[in-house]
Amino acid sequence: MKVTVVGAGAVGASCAEYVAIKDFADEVVLIDIKEGFAEGKAMDLMQCASLNGFDTQITGITNDYSKTAGSDVAVITSGIPRKPGMTREELIGINAGIVKTVAENLIKFSPEVIIVVVSNPMDTMAYLAHKATGLPKNRIIGMGGALDSARFKFRLAEAIGCPASDVDGMVIGGHSDVGMVPLIGKAARNSVKVSEFLSEEKMQQVVEDTKVGGATLTKLLGTSAWYAPGAAVSEMVKAIALDSKKMFPCSALLDGEYGLSDISIGVPCIIGKNGIEQIVEVELTEAESAKIKESAAGVKATNALLG
Ligand code: 2OP
Repeated sequence: MKVTVVGAGAVGASCAEYVAIKDFADEVVLIDIKEGFAEGKAMDLMQCASLNGFDTQITGITNDYSKTAGSDVAVITSGIPRKPGMTREELIGINAGIVKTVAENLIKFSPEVIIVVVSNPMDTMAYLAHKATGLPKNRIIGMGGALDSARFKFRLAEAIGCPASDVDGMVIGGHSDVGMVPLIGKAARNSVKVSEFLSEEKMQQVVEDTKVGGATLTKLLGTSAWYAPGAAVSEMVKAIALDSKKMFPCSALLDGEYGLSDISIGVPCIIGKNGIEQIVEVELTEAESAKIKESAAGVKATNALLG
């Protein structure tokens, strides 16, 4: 299994590190446009091999996509991260051109590749990747919901006072501070609805804290987060590599599912060797359906900026 990670910044390097440590890939190619940057990150990561006990070979490349040839999966993290106070959508002016060029370069050398898009505004960047590459829609997956769901579980566990491993929860909709939809009514602590443990007020606070999870960290860090994004996307890559048929909320190109079309937005997906194996249409309450449609309107408005 060959994995390419485009962008050796914090998120890309974290993704490469997690993929290596989980040791399901033979090779990770880390590529960046900054001379020597990916080479340095790759060498630093490879010096962890004996410490972290992995055999994955990590190679750093500067802007030579021929070295990504034959990739099974490619993760696009390139572009600029947001600064405190910025929305993800404000990044479109710079990131759209980068993501389009990267996607075109990737398929030139890896025509069978499955692309996972992380760069923001992610749902719009995933949509752009579909348009730029013409790949089958199961082979372009946006990573946002897996990260947002991890943050949702963090907040639920914090509020309940239990280990994060004890809770389950999913976030669907757009990967945006206002558009994401934490499915609080479906969240559970070991199959028991969280409403058994939390007041209505506390559940709403968990929802609101989840929605601004990225912005909260950007304010603290001065830039976007990288550990949880890197870990989230590495889990999706692992599900592809191992053909896990694991369900993640992912940004997927819809063609009527959830009453939406011509949009990539976060919905439950079964992930396996073919990328998106299946889009799962879960039963939503009227309120949840309304929120998804509102979220989709926001994503489509950002898509319109692609011109
Ligand atoms: C985040 O929410 C980078 O969009 C990513 O942290």
